[in-house]
Amino acid sequence: MYNKVMETVEFLNSKVTNRPKIAIILGSGLGGLVEYVENKVVIPYKDIPNFPVSTVAGHAGELVFGTINNVEVLVMKGRFHYYEGYNMKEVTYPQYVFKKFGIETMIVSNAAGGANRDFKPGTLMIINDHINFFGTNPLIGSNDERFGPRFPDMSETYSKALIEKAKNVASKLNIEFEEGVYLGSSGPTYETAAEVKMMMTMGASAVGMSTVPESIVANYLGIKILGISCITNMATGIATKPHSHEEVVEIANQTGERFCKWIAETVKEL
Ligand code: 6GU
Repeated sequence: MYNKVMETVEFLNSKVTNRPKIAIILGSGLGGLVEYVENKVVIPYKDIPNFPVSTVAGHAGELVFGTINNVEVLVMKGRFHYYEGYNMKEVTYPQYVFKKFGIETMIVSNAAGGANRDFKPGTLMIINDHINFFGTNPLIGSNDERFGPRFPDMSETYSKALIEKAKNVASKLNIEFEEGVYLGSSGPTYETAAEVKMMMTMGASAVGMSTVPESIVANYLGIKILGISCITNMATGIATKPHSHEEVVEIANQTGERFCKWIAETVKEL
């Protein structure tokens, strides 16, 4: 694993002169942020040694290097979902690469279902904690101390300082937001109404199929995390009609402009 990661990092170092300290992972329908990136250098995942290749519709699968408001960033357009059949080491491979490439801060975004009745489709939610409902953990297996500790602390997985900065920027830009707990499970099915009821009781504000594995590994690696969920629909039982992926992408696209303005301004403060 370590040698593979270093091989990927050496490839990236040879391909680009950019040395960003911020990585941004774009969720379903939030790919529009790439339009904010200047001086773009795009590398498709398929050209990157040891990188898994993304398949799901709405995920292009490329790394985009460049600047947003003159701040260097590395944007991941398209991520690896557990439900696609990737194993947890594949799902979280980019985080290991981030770390060894010099990334210090990860902004992770997703489209999610609202499990807080006060939310509406189009709500942007700062993730202040998560519940790992994947039934597995990406750090299972022998531990390589060159990456991080055997038993990582998870008491501040989502950086309080970054949350404060994001809140201040949102106030300045007049962007409404909520804050809450993201519950991640494998998918690909959406939840049943009974499951959503349980998840609400457990403390979930939003439910989705990503982010938790990436955040567990980034936290383990010592990368600071800011997480934003775009609530594209209410979760099953709260929603008044069945879910569709098309609708998820459509609402995420509509919310994208607010999301992009917020992130573009926030990177200046990190
Ligand atoms: Cl309702 N559930 C899950 N697991 N993921 C979602 C969603 C719901 N809406 C968007 N993504």
